[in-house]
Amino acid sequence: MAILLTGGTGKTSVRLAQFLQKANIPFLLASRGARSGAPTGMPAVHFDWLDRSTWKSPFEHRFPGGDTISAIYLMEPLVAEPWEPMNAFIDYTLKEHKVARFVLVAGSSADPSRPGMGRVWQHLLDLGVDYCVLRPSWFMENLSDGDTAALIREHGKIYTACGNGKIPFVSAIDIAAVAFRALTNPTSPNCDYRVLGPELLTYDEVAHKLAAALGRPVEHVHLSGEERYQGLINAGVSEYYARFIVNLETAAATGFETRMNTTVEEVTGRPPRSLELFASEHRSVW
Ligand SMILES: NC(=O)c1ccc[n+]([C@@H]2O[C@H](COP(=O)([O-])OP(=O)(O)OC[C@H]3O[C@@H](n4cnc5c(N)ncnc54)[C@H](OP(=O)(O)O)[C@@H]3O)[C@@H](O)[C@H]2O)c1
Repeated sequence: MAILLTGGTGKTSVRLAQFLQKANIPFLLASRGARSGAPTGMPAVHFDWLDRSTWKSPFEHRFPGGDTISAIYLMEPLVAEPWEPMNAFIDYTLKEHKVARFVLVAGSSADPSRPGMGRVWQHLLDLGVDYCVLRPSWFMENLSDGDTAALIREHGKIYTACGNGKIPFVSAIDIAAVAFRALTNPTSPNCDYRVLGPELLTYDEVAHKLAAALGRPVEHVHLSGEERYQGLINAGVSEYYARFIVNLETAAATGFETRMNTTVEEVTGRPPRSLELFASEHRSVW
């Protein structure tokens, strides 16, 4: 048994690879930049959802014990209609390589009846294959990556259109831990899991916790949807992605993300990691 991890340079796949490495389960990281961007010593292959000529590469990889890929972690590319290449790839891997299990990362709003990752979810249901759909809440790692991290570091500010919406921020480590079980437990879950953090927090409360960890002020700046959109466009974000972010944030402001559950503890046997812990571990980033 070997596991293919798409999104091979992403926040959850790399952490999932660490779990697999510790468990001695063969894996392969796959994305456009995985060969140069994957952690040193981890096997990786060039793979582009939008270039079918790369789809066979993971299956040409020689695993040391002669294993073949039997399960795939599916992470969408950020393009319009990502379900088109994803469903075609699933069909290809079933037909040509007898892959037996799929674990799909989707968003909070995903639903088999709706466009987006719901289309992939429905495809897995139609095929009748072993599967699991992960529906994580917002990643804590959004705070420690890219522009958000730079704005916290350089200006002590977090800009959102989330208002006072409460969000159960979750660690990518916990998402990876749930994915690990879904991919490797002898019996496939064949269900969806909402993967949520341990507490509901507004961005004001997040800023307060970061300030406490850093010992200096961090402010959440409340923006309207339009102000947020313009800010993202001015920062060089594409119109498509800026609209995507603004829609997520304005929905969160109305309570769309406000929910709690015990899934992480039920699936992994330990409670989800807190934002305080995350903040203390990432102090050097800010
Ligand atoms: N971030 C959140 O708060 C959040 C919350 C809920 C759900 N989600 C879901 O979680 C998933 C990951 O989100 P994220 O934004 O945080 O992602 P991420 O960690 O930045 O990972 C995205 C990955 O996709 C790969 N990728 C992008 N385009 C590709 C292409 N054409 N072909 C192959 N690989 C490609 C990237 O690698 P290369 O660039 O090397 O190709 C990268 O490894 C998404 O499905 C998102 O909807 C995220």
